[in-house]
This record gives sequence, C-alpha cells and structure tokens, in this order.
Amino acid sequence: MTPSEVPFSQAAENNKGPILQVLQQHCQAPGTLLEIGAGTGQHAAWLSAQLPHLQWQPSDIPDNLPAIHHWLSQTPNPAKPPLALDVTGEWPTGPFDYLFTANTFHIMAQSLVAHCIAEGCQRLSTTGLFLVYGPFNYDGQFTSDSNRQFEDWLKAADPQRGIRDKEWVEKEFARHGRQCLADHAMPANNRVLVFG
Ligand SMILES: C[S@@+](CC[C@H](N)C(=O)[O-])C[C@H]1O[C@@H](n2cnc3c(N)ncnc32)[C@H](O)[C@@H]1O
Repeated sequence: MTPSEVPFSQAAENNKGPILQVLQQHCQAPGTLLEIGAGTGQHAAWLSAQLPHLQWQPSDIPDNLPAIHHWLSQTPNPAKPPLALDVTGEWPTGPFDYLFTANTFHIMAQSLVAHCIAEGCQRLSTTGLFLVYGPFNYDGQFTSDSNRQFEDWLKAADPQRGIRDKEWVEKEFARHGRQCLADHAMPANNRVLVFG
C-alpha cells in the first residue's frame, strides 16, 4: 500500500481519546474484544495499545482489511490481524467479553443494525458488554443542527443510512436480553452506549 493509498480518518484521530476514557471505565477486566466495522484500523492500532489487557480482534468487510493491516503494522500494538466479517455473513464463534463498534449503526441499513445486534448478542458472554459509539437521536429528535445536516448528507449518499433512535436501539438489545447500562456524551454530538 503506497502512502497515497492509505486511508486516514481525522474523526478517528479526534475521537480515540474520549473513546479510550469510556473503554477504560467499562473494560477493566481482561478479556476478548471484537471490533465490528474497524474502518481504517486507526482505532484498533491505538486503542489496543492503550488497553493491552484486552485481546483486540478488529474486523470489517474484506475490502477494508488491507488498510487495517497497514495501520496495525505502523505502531507496536497487541491487536490481532484483522478478520473478514460482513455482519450479514458468518460470524466468529465467540463468546467475546466485549464487542465494540464505532460509527457503523448510521451506515448500515436499520434492518442490518438489528441483525448486527442479534448476532453480536449471541456471541457476547453472559456478563459481556457491547459498546456502540456514534450519533444517536433521542425521542426522534436530533441532538444538534450538525447531526441534522449529517443525516441529510447520509440520506443523499444512501437513503437506507441514517442516525438511529437510541430508544429503538435499546429495544433491539432488550429483545436479546441486554439493557443499556450507560450512555456517555462524547465530543461532536456523539455518544457511547453501553449494553450488557
Ligand atoms: C463510517 S465507517 C466507521 C469506521 C471506523 N469504525 C471509525 O469509526 O472510523 C463505517 C464502517 O462500517 C463498515 N460496515 C458497513 N457495512 C458493514 C457490514 N455489512 N459488515 C461489517 N462492516 C460494515 C464499513 O466497512 C466501515 O468500515
């Protein structure tokens, strides 16, 4: 991969510190963590190095694996080589102690988010946690003008994309026996929802 081909996310650089603080709070016990939709791999490379007690398994659709391999190779970190995981396909057996996903629920179609929650919860240990970073609406309302504009941008790219209602996400998790244990405000009108 030549330097010009390496994908880079400024947002991932900006949010990795605040996300780390939440993971440090909720993921104190050593264990296995499956990251869904790891994107460029910047989160996996940096967060896994800060949290060496976690066995960090990044995953994404096959097209994204070269970038993740690249980012993991650039710094010392304990993350495992990335796994090909399209949430519509076959999942690793698990169980995992933690599932983590950032900025995927507004990219996947709503039915796919429901599927991801169902499959993920099946692979989560009984006491495991599923942590979801991204923008959410509350009672059908945007939390900021910038999120409303972001929604328009998402829909223009693909009408199936969209910011999900926290209450809907909560209901989907509840169908699989997991409750919302924490809801952390993050910079730039994002949240981390913690289910377990
Ligand atoms: C906006 S990016 C977020 C990437 C990264 N987590 C971050 O926060 O920078 C959305 C990610 O969701 C992944 N994704 C979309 N559909 C998916 C699917 N069906 N299965 C697994 N990952 C998917 C994309 O490949 C992409 O990496």
